Amino acid sequence: MSDAEVFAGVRLLGPPEADGEYIALSDDETVHLHEYTRIYAVPGLYEHVVQDLLRCTSPEVAAAGFLRAAERLGLDPASLTVLDVGSGTGLVGELVRGGGVARVVGVDALPAARAAALRDRPGVYADYVVGDFLRDDDALREALRPYPLGGLVSAGAFGGTHATPRALENALALLPPGAPVAFTIDERWMDVSDPEGFGAAVERLVTDGDLVVLERTRFQHRVTTSGEPIFYQLVVGRTG
Ligand SMILES: C[S@@+](CC[C@H](N)C(=O)[O-])C[C@H]1O[C@@H](n2cnc3c(N)ncnc32)[C@H](O)[C@@H]1O
Repeated sequence: MSDAEVFAGVRLLGPPEADGEYIALSDDETVHLHEYTRIYAVPGLYEHVVQDLLRCTSPEVAAAGFLRAAERLGLDPASLTVLDVGSGTGLVGELVRGGGVARVVGVDALPAARAAALRDRPGVYADYVVGDFLRDDDALREALRPYPLGGLVSAGAFGGTHATPRALENALALLPPGAPVAFTIDERWMDVSDPEGFGAAVERLVTDGDLVVLERTRFQHRVTTSGEPIFYQLVVGRTG
């Protein structure tokens, strides 16, 4: 059966509701767009909805930004072990591996994400840990200890119902100075006037010398379920 036949009943249910966006998987089943455990359970469904129907570009933008950062810093990707935060089904890991990165270690809060990445993209990740950088999680730190992490990449995993600024700070703290970093964040959460937001967190990281920003660009992350553009920022830099 072709993908078109498998996903024939999948429809976007726009416009977004007050609590977020919804899709129909069939005439009998409606799910919230962030009901990842359900969506990841079906091979290719996340990619069909988010990449094909909602035209999400964040994985490509983040991976390309990461590879540019490595190049600007004079680092050979083949020498790097990179942390992919909120790795989902493994799109970003696959892209940075395709760009020559030696090893990628994935981290996602959901066991279903790990299962989907290992099922759909076997061999992409050197390891894929279920964990959450939000908490000062000793188990996660322990699981990552064997890996000489030398960079961080993350697409669409920070902000809103996803990981918080604290999670970004905790993840960056695992890297040595001079490590390339690239992540994408909804521009609404980059407003510096919000002390709890990512804009303030990035400013803090820069002021404290923990992050040097090399690029900061606005791009269309995807469209909503009713076709309106959603803009994100790509932050590319190096740890201080
Ligand atoms: C929109 S998906 C993006 C997945 C992948 N990066 C991509 O671009 O295809 C966001 C992912 O971030 C994960 N996530 C959300 N909050 C997290 C947290 N605090 N720690 C780790 N992963 C988290 C979710 O479980 C989900 O798999």
